[in-house]
Amino acid sequence: MGIDYSVLDKKERLALELRSLYLKNGYSNYRMNKFEEYDLYAENKEFLVSDNVITFTDTDGKLMALKPDVTLSVIKNSVDDPQTTTKVCYNENVYRVSRGAGCFKEIMQSGVERFGKVDEKATIETIDLALKSLAVASDNYILALTDLDVVSEAVEKINDPVSKKEIYKAIGDMNLDYIERLSGGDTLKRLLSISGALKDVLGELEDILSDASLSGGSFVSVLKALASGEYSNKIVLDFSVIGDENYYNGLVFKGYVKNLPAAALSGGRYDNLMKKMNRRSQAIGFAVYIDELDDYEDVQEDDYLNVALPKGRLGEKVYSLFADIGYECPQILEPNRKLVFENPQKKVRYFWVKPSDIAIYVERGAADVGVAGKDIIDEYLPDVYELVDLGLGKCRMAVAAPKNFKEDLERPLKVATKFSHIARNYYQSKGRDIDIIHLNGSIEIAPILGLSDVIVDIVETGRTLEENDLEVVEKISDISARLIANKASKKFKGKAIEELRKRIKEAKI
Ligand code: PRP
Repeated sequence: MGIDYSVLDKKERLALELRSLYLKNGYSNYRMNKFEEYDLYAENKEFLVSDNVITFTDTDGKLMALKPDVTLSVIKNSVDDPQTTTKVCYNENVYRVSRGAGCFKEIMQSGVERFGKVDEKATIETIDLALKSLAVASDNYILALTDLDVVSEAVEKINDPVSKKEIYKAIGDMNLDYIERLSGGDTLKRLLSISGALKDVLGELEDILSDASLSGGSFVSVLKALASGEYSNKIVLDFSVIGDENYYNGLVFKGYVKNLPAAALSGGRYDNLMKKMNRRSQAIGFAVYIDELDDYEDVQEDDYLNVALPKGRLGEKVYSLFADIGYECPQILEPNRKLVFENPQKKVRYFWVKPSDIAIYVERGAADVGVAGKDIIDEYLPDVYELVDLGLGKCRMAVAAPKNFKEDLERPLKVATKFSHIARNYYQSKGRDIDIIHLNGSIEIAPILGLSDVIVDIVETGRTLEENDLEVVEKISDISARLIANKASKKFKGKAIEELRKRIKEAKI
């Protein structure tokens, strides 16, 4: 009797179709235990998506962990022979803290790992398989590729006293405003500005590589092969796709499926991780996030640009800028309490959203773009692009204290704030011990009532501080409104988003 496949749910069907695809391509199925010794993860923490791992003590007293990742286990149990090719595929659950929910989740992943010698042919085959994996889930998908060796050479050209960590963050955020301020940041800016179909941008890439004397020959030759292949219109060059350079190297990629707000697939070369685990073999692989694909509905095509605006004074200024540069939506000015407005001619839809929620709407893809204060971005660290500084809503993040305040260095400083993450980071970098008192507003009152020693808050005109006998004692950073974009929307609505970014940039000059 044949199997009735209609009894499978979407997740099971996807997992089965992917396994069948991988087996057909010469991969063998790999099964593993749900637990590993905790040491494996403790030694490779940066490789993991999150530091949090569920641990327990085994009957012999050994500290064990519920697998937060598959690749490390596969490497640990693989035969290390650089001369032979090992190809394994898996379908496994991992246990991680989910970014959105903030609690542990069981996450289903399918994927492949290939060890041995990874030459251009092996690289192209793996990318081809990644594309076919995305095609299992949807007809409308994109694979975004970068080369970390090229990126790292471009980063080396920067001669500015900023940390590499900060530069890589700006790359991942596509923060061109930041990169163009760096001395020697020009090559990196040109790489990040590449956009368009693979075959149309190859010449531009070659020019940049040759102008800046960057290597990348093998990357270009892989791209040329892909550009003449069956899936060339599904591939984009995107130098903002990054992975930890201590683990990944060379070509890395992320796959996106239309209407899914986050990457559905992620992978690349990880020879550096192999070296770290004392392996001589090279390696490449990718994982498909089955749970993400399970959540996704093939909803009707939406060709509107969905914009989240911060409710209030700043939002009104932002809307007036947007209207001036061609994104008007007269409905929005009518006196009513509606929260969603659209202009079908301009294909633009606006939402009024609480300023501190903008980043969430954009990160989760409910809006394609939004305007958020740099304070919100630094506090919540959303996984979004930070495309341009609007130059509006300028203010400072600062530490303020009662006039004539004398700090007692013998005890932790009591800090009241809405911005706990920013405050913690700031004092950590100074090595100062603090107690955070998290409040939701009217922060200035905390030191007056003796609830805290100082506050960390936004200062615009300084009037609130002045009228409450407080003063700025240290500036933490400059704040202004930024255009942020959902990373998947930037892939599928790239032209519209790029046009908006350009017009904002021009309007500012
Ligand atoms: C912000 C901030 C300060 C004030 C600073 O408060 O938290 O209280 O503005 O502006 P100023 O320097 O021009 O006086 P907001 O209006 O957002 O209200 P909140 O205190 O409830 O957060």
